[in-house]
Amino acid sequence: MTDYTTIIRQMEALAEASSDPVALMANTAALLFHGMADVNWAGFYLVKDGALLLGPFQGNVACVVIEKGKGVCGTAWAQDRLQLVPDVHAFPGHIACDSASRSEIVVPLHRGGTVCAVLDIDSPVTGRFTAEDAAGLAALAAAMEEILG
Ligand code: SME
Repeated sequence: MTDYTTIIRQMEALAEASSDPVALMANTAALLFHGMADVNWAGFYLVKDGALLLGPFQGNVACVVIEKGKGVCGTAWAQDRLQLVPDVHAFPGHIACDSASRSEIVVPLHRGGTVCAVLDIDSPVTGRFTAEDAAGLAALAAAMEEILG
């Protein structure tokens, strides 16, 4: 099971050097990618010019632009709600950046009351993510929002 308390502490410690969003997201993607079992992609998409633009991540190359409401990421943004998808093949409109991906979790991040980014994590294992992952990642996102202001 992922130790989200430690990951959040490490993220906060790294942010002491700088609260720059790219630096913080890059290191957080690395903490998640290496700190979670059975994960093949971990990273961020940033809201820019009315769409989601690929941000810092770990894993294979990924889709660069995602429209609002499209895929799991665009749905998390449009609905402003965490998306826990046990089977991506059962999610209408899922965007398959990596054909190995089977399950996915996406968490919105906010700034000034609106979604400014989403955290996206993919797994090659069906049903990889649990309610505990959802709670841990929501806590991580909230801690990042505090730092990013
Ligand atoms: N699967 C995502 C697209 C991003 S990649 O997984 C990195 C989606 O459906 O939004």
